[in-house]
Amino acid sequence: MSFPKGFLWGGATAANQYEGGFDEGGKGLTAVDVMTNGSATTPRQVTWTRADGTTGQSPMVWGADFKVPADATPAMVPDAYYPSHGGTDFYHHYQEDIELMAKAGFTTFRFSIAWSRIFPTGEETTPNEAGLAFYEKVIDLCVQNHIEPCITLQHYDTPLALVQKYGGWQDRRLVDLFAHYAAVVFKRYAGKVHYYTTFNEINAMDEAPYLGGGLTDPTPQNRAQGAHNQFLASAKAVRAAHELNADIQVGMMLAYQPVYAETCNPADQLAVMQNMEHGLFYADVQAGGAYPKARLIQYEKAGIHLDITPEDEALLRTYPADFLGFSCYTSSVITADPTRDENAQGNLGGGTVKNPYLETNAWGWATDPIVLRLALNTLWHRYHKPLFVVENGLGWADEVAADGQIHDDYRINYLRYAVQSMQDAINEDGVEMIGYALWSAIDLVSNGTGEMKKRYGLVYVDRDDWGNGSLKRTPKDSYHWYQKVIATNGDDLA
Ligand code: BG6
Repeated sequence: MSFPKGFLWGGATAANQYEGGFDEGGKGLTAVDVMTNGSATTPRQVTWTRADGTTGQSPMVWGADFKVPADATPAMVPDAYYPSHGGTDFYHHYQEDIELMAKAGFTTFRFSIAWSRIFPTGEETTPNEAGLAFYEKVIDLCVQNHIEPCITLQHYDTPLALVQKYGGWQDRRLVDLFAHYAAVVFKRYAGKVHYYTTFNEINAMDEAPYLGGGLTDPTPQNRAQGAHNQFLASAKAVRAAHELNADIQVGMMLAYQPVYAETCNPADQLAVMQNMEHGLFYADVQAGGAYPKARLIQYEKAGIHLDITPEDEALLRTYPADFLGFSCYTSSVITADPTRDENAQGNLGGGTVKNPYLETNAWGWATDPIVLRLALNTLWHRYHKPLFVVENGLGWADEVAADGQIHDDYRINYLRYAVQSMQDAINEDGVEMIGYALWSAIDLVSNGTGEMKKRYGLVYVDRDDWGNGSLKRTPKDSYHWYQKVIATNGDDLA
């Protein structure tokens, strides 16, 4: 019982963590270009300046409490280190990296286009040719190597100019700016790119609104409107792709983390149900085409006034996402007991208590052997849209051994569970999948901490937390393991 013929195997990356070349080729700055590095215990900071020239920084804490002071704008400041500026330098290493992906047998490569490389401030009418040409070289190389590109249009990197001028995605004017950007990209790469996703982890608008939507004032009102504006922009992108009729599928992308109740106390079960619905709301709108009533009731109770018109509702209904892409790294555990918070970690936050049955990495993310099977089942039975796992992987402080190699058997164990889980979901549970793009194809900067040492790649990159290193690429043991998995279409997991 193996994977379906044509199942896409590959890896994923994101421009702001990987690409570098932040001020080359006419690229404008992005929201992430003013974020410093942090660590497992110290949050990343967003730096800012005031009109009088004074500078400062605010911690980006998971949840919604990050805020730029009202009289300041996010900006680069002297002496701060910004890991997105160099990433792991895909901008200058793309040929070598795509060659490595091809040798591993990749049939898909998920990467993101930096909107500000195409429209430096987000508001130009004419695109930056150097930006379009860069991605064209990347895409052409993929196609020559039989690698299907899967492109994210915004992976946490709202153009900084839109953040400074409008306060981010809470402003409806971003909808048409994004739709224009999407249409330009679809047209330019028509016939070469068949898979796009619009917003990476769209539910970050709740948990990390600066990353998700460039929000500088993340009130509940602004987050609700920011999400709505992204829904509209996404639907307009779907419409533009279908009108172009170039065999393009435009998916959504959700951060999904199965949630367990700590006990069979009904209060814990209710807390789990509410937590799940809170996250799945985003897919209800994008994959299902309409707001769930529960969310509207919550908005009303919280005094949130959504700017939503009947035309908006028709747009969402008529142009839902073609497929559901999602990231899934771990599971989390919830208790309704407000006195217990063990600060359990996971993607975009995590649960409240630790899972005593599971091991964690140094950043507290648990390795759950069946997490993908659970996620795939929940999403398939609720939406009946083809599913694409566009992120899944293990962050680890890999070391180079005395023989110059990276023996990451812990990552192989993690990935083996993941592949087995997908196989079970397809063959036992009847789930339909497009493919699997693990995180990450090549080592890159961690999004949550800005560190280099939290590595996910199949390929090691010689670079440290402060940007030192030769950038030399070395395939890890997991690279060779994955090569065999792909060659046997998921049959040989040994
Ligand atoms: C997802 C993001 O949240 O998880 C990626 O889409 C990110 O950008 C990945 O890198 C892993 O998270 P982290 O914080 O360990 O880099």
